[in-house]
Parts: sequence; structure tokens; C-alpha cells
Amino acid sequence: MDRLKLAVFGLKNAGAAATRNMNQKGFLDMLLLIENGTVINPGDGTELKADVLVEDGKIKKIGPKQKMKADRVVDAAGCYVMPGFIDMHVHLRDPGQEHKETVETGSQAAARGGFTTIVAMPNTKPVVDNADVVNYVHNKAKDVRRVHVLQTGAVTRGQRGEELADIEAMVEAGIPAISEDGKTVMNAQLYREAMTLAVKYDIPVLSHCEDVNMAGAGVVNADKAMKKMKFAGISNAVEDVIIARDIMLAKDTGAALHLCHCSTKDSVRLVELAKQEGIRVTAEACPHHFTLTSEDIPGDDANYKMNPPLRTKEDVQALKEGLKAGIIDVIATDHAPHTAIEKGVGIKRAPFGIVGLETAAALVMTELVNQGYLTVMQMAGKMSYNPAKILGLDKGVVEEGKPADLVVFDPKKQYVIDPSEFYSKGKNTPFAGRKVKGVVMATIVDGKVVYEK
Ligand code: DOR
Ligand code: ZN
Ligand code: ZN
Repeated sequence: MDRLKLAVFGLKNAGAAATRNMNQKGFLDMLLLIENGTVINPGDGTELKADVLVEDGKIKKIGPKQKMKADRVVDAAGCYVMPGFIDMHVHLRDPGQEHKETVETGSQAAARGGFTTIVAMPNTKPVVDNADVVNYVHNKAKDVRRVHVLQTGAVTRGQRGEELADIEAMVEAGIPAISEDGKTVMNAQLYREAMTLAVKYDIPVLSHCEDVNMAGAGVVNADKAMKKMKFAGISNAVEDVIIARDIMLAKDTGAALHLCHCSTKDSVRLVELAKQEGIRVTAEACPHHFTLTSEDIPGDDANYKMNPPLRTKEDVQALKEGLKAGIIDVIATDHAPHTAIEKGVGIKRAPFGIVGLETAAALVMTELVNQGYLTVMQMAGKMSYNPAKILGLDKGVVEEGKPADLVVFDPKKQYVIDPSEFYSKGKNTPFAGRKVKGVVMATIVDGKVVYEK
């Protein structure tokens, strides 16, 4: 049967082709046709009604009505065909906390969210501070064969902030970036040395900006609403002072600095200033930070607890304006799965973090595109093209000859977020019951349909 198909499509080397695009059911996806959609290509800013023909994992042809007889057809009528989303900020909990998430469940959640590449943070158990752990994650992702998983390396050994991790060996093992996420390297001299290495190996540094001493025992934003609830606060300055420091370190070393989960109004101003100065800095914002304020916290519910915390209306407005103006380059999720038991103990004692992979695209559509802050093209820029550029990946565009990492996204379909439908093991979201618009209809990785609604 496979041989017959191969003959029909005129492929010479059946053996080689057979190892290529085996989908979950074991069928070959040699020719995939995505028809009737609107193609969004942030590579050159074009939007056009066209069919996309995919062969052997690559985009073969983009154009009007492809007459080709394909092995598989995805009907994208009423949908955008966009470059697959790239999430630069995901916590997979593998190795060590597989009860929260694994490479497999995280990859499935990613595919359901329209992500074709995810970047995993190193705060696992053990910490990803050497090549062995990098290889472990990358090999697992290869076995799972769902989305591309890129593992970052920690900046310091054990994330203890005392000595540098084995960055050179991790670069050889294929890390796309270094990051101490979950923590800040509080020793500026040590971080400076790490940035110098990042320049040497031509990789970006992804910064979690939090002055741990100032943060103290804070659990929510330091504001009036939170004071009323008697929770210890995390001020904007906790984030802003480290953002300012890291920008200066980037200026000093020439490193490509990427600021994770910016949440304050002054973070936007600092990034704008740094860019004006020509410093190599990019910034990301997360859907929860541009959607919710601390006033949305309904009570002692740890599904609203994350780090950095939900801020004020002013901060949220500044983030939206910063996204619109292009000061904030990237939308990433900071997908941070935790169990219901861990999250059930109240804001004071529960761990920081919420899941995000399966709600991000709809929140961007609902909160930013439909509210006039972003065009769909800009959405594709911040969720795919810009992350690809920052990470140095040959992705983020919909162009002939490029890898067929694509998402078919219906912007009009409305639904209510229901965590019980998540593929992620983590159900910890503040968005349960929220009405949103925008559904991922299909996700395609290397020409293979890895998710279809
Ligand atoms: O909310 C967060 N959760 N922020 C972080 O920095 C770490 C993350 C986690 O690993 O749970
Ligand atoms: Zn972080
Ligand atoms: Zn994080």
C-alpha cells in the first residue's frame, strides 16, 4: 500500500521516504494540502487567500487552488494559515517532576495550542546544567515526535548562583539559549561572565528579572487591593531594578538579552530606552499579564498566583501599548504546570505559576487582536517570527522551501475555556470559564499533522 502510494506520486526512494513523514497512525503524509485558508506570512508581511501544498516536510507551493491530489487535505476555510507558534518560555517538569508534566504531555499541550516549537526552561530536578540532561530532554522529545522541543541550559550549576554551569558542553549539545529562569543570578559579576560566554557562543540570554532580596516573602503584587487581602507584596521595583541591571550588563558585554515575562509599566519604558540606545535587547509578555490585573483575583485562589504577579490596570495598559508599538517583541506563555493539590493550599503557600500553552492563542486573539492592539500579522510576528529570529531558527515564516511548521487557526470560533479538556497535566489556570474567540484547528510539524480538532 505504501509502495503503491509512493509509486503513484513518483518517489524514487521508497525506503528513505518511508522513514520521513509517518504520522501517528503510521500513514505517510507525503503530500499534504491545506486549502481555502488565508495565509499569513510575517516574513514579508503578506496576507493572501491561497492553498498551501506540503511535501516531505517542506512547503512546496503556495498559490491559488492547487489541483494536486494530496494524501491528506486540511480544510482551512475561514481560518488563518500561520507559521506554527514558537513558545520561548515553557516549564516541562521533566526530568524530576513528571507528575506535573512530561516532555510528552507538554508536547501534546503545545500541539493543541498551535505551538510547533517550545523552549523548555532549565529549573527541573535535576537542573539542566550539563549536556547529559540536555540530551535526555532532546532524546525524549524525538521519541515523542510531536513538536520541536529545545532545551535551554541553566546559567549556574544547580541554579545555586555560585559558579557557572557547563555552558560550553551544553552549547555543543544544542541548547538555543541560557537562562536561570525561576531564579535570578543575583551576582552581577557572575552574570556578566555568563553573558560574555553567550556572546562567544552566539546564543541569547533569557532573563528572569526578580531581585530576590526585595521580593522577600511576597506572593502577589504590592498594591492596595492586595494589602486588603493581607498578602505580602512584590513591588514593581523587584522586577525593574534587575531589568535595568541586565540591560546595563548587555550593554557592557554585547550579549543578546531577552527579558522574560515583563509585567510592569517601567519595564516597557526601560526596554524602549535600551532599544533607542542600540543595546541588543528583546522583551516578552505573557497572556495573563496583559489580560488580568490583581483586582481580578477573586479571593484566596492560587490559580492567580504566578511570578511575576498580576499587576495593576496601569501596568496592563502599558504592556498592551508596548506590544502594539513593537517595544515588546514576543508573546510567550511561561507555561508552569502544578498539581491541583499543590495549588489547593491557598495563595500564601502554593507554588508560583499557571499553565498557558492551550489558552495563549485565544487570549491573544481576544484581548489584543480583537481589541485593536495587534493585527493578525503582528500576532504571527510575536508568536512565531520574532521568537525564531531571537533563537536563530529557520522558522517563523510561511514560504516555499521552508519547513512546514504551520498552524490553522479559526479566529471567529467562540468557546469557554475548560481546563478538564487540557492535554497538559496541569489544570492550574485563572481562565477557567472565560469566554474567548479563536480555536486552533490543526497543527502541522515538519509536514505532519500532529494535532487536529
Ligand atoms: O510563575 C512562575 N512559575 N514563575 C517562575 O519564574 C517559575 C515558574 C515555575 O517554574 O513554576
Ligand atoms: Zn521566570
Ligand atoms: Zn518561567
